[in-house]
Amino acid sequence: MIELEDFFEDVIGKTLRGTGVADGVLSFLTNVEPDTIAKLKEGEFDESAVRAIAPALGLDADSLVELANRSWRPEPVELAGLQQFNTIFDPDPDDMMTVNSYLIWDPQTKEAALFDTGADAGPALAAIGELGLELTTLFITHSHIDHIIDREKVVAAHPGIRVLVNAKEPVAGAERFAAGDTFSIGTLRVITRLTWGHSPAGTTYVVNGLARPVAVVGDALFAQSMGGGVISFKDALATNRSEIFTLEDQTVVCPGHGPMTSVGEEKAHNPFFPEFKS
Ligand SMILES: [Fe+2]
Repeated sequence: MIELEDFFEDVIGKTLRGTGVADGVLSFLTNVEPDTIAKLKEGEFDESAVRAIAPALGLDADSLVELANRSWRPEPVELAGLQQFNTIFDPDPDDMMTVNSYLIWDPQTKEAALFDTGADAGPALAAIGELGLELTTLFITHSHIDHIIDREKVVAAHPGIRVLVNAKEPVAGAERFAAGDTFSIGTLRVITRLTWGHSPAGTTYVVNGLARPVAVVGDALFAQSMGGGVISFKDALATNRSEIFTLEDQTVVCPGHGPMTSVGEEKAHNPFFPEFKS
């Protein structure tokens, strides 16, 4: 089982960094002591303090408390034509980090595409052989090294493969496209959507044609969190709203870190998007 990527203090930290709200200002706005805010940032949970600061940061308090208590996780996803691979990028036990890649294929034609390589493309390449698939495309969500580090192995195993990336975030050896361009995997249709903010031109790939729509989102969105707004926190939030949360609720969300989830579940449980909570 893949753990949720972030803790409640990660969500608070990403928001403080992203909005530029200083601890002192947050304290002034919420009457929460600076010392208590410092402890929250360190991961010391205090429910009343979390509930006090959440609205001032634009976060949903109930979801943040739920995250702190680890009392929710998304429903497991079982979908013919979709497989997740979770590989270890940083094996340091104190700082262990895993990353996801995804294999999507057309069950009728057996044509397949890989989305990112993860730290080690080996398990995905083995699955391609076992399932008798023909790998034609490697789609890159964004250029951060943990997502693309093993692409040479993929290209070596499948020399004719197309490697595709958004032109505004180029990667050596990859063909470039513009957001909105469409591709196919057998009879499946792939639509590219720009979900930038975490990276300069992060792409969400929306795949239609399986029993449920699938959105491979890279680090734009995580189960109950999202990637840090390294380039622009404001635009990371805005493009998630316009490009991901407008998809059907049953859409499977495939993040670069943490478990798979769905648009409907993130509407109900993601603290960064309070507007969907009843
Ligand atoms: Fe990233």
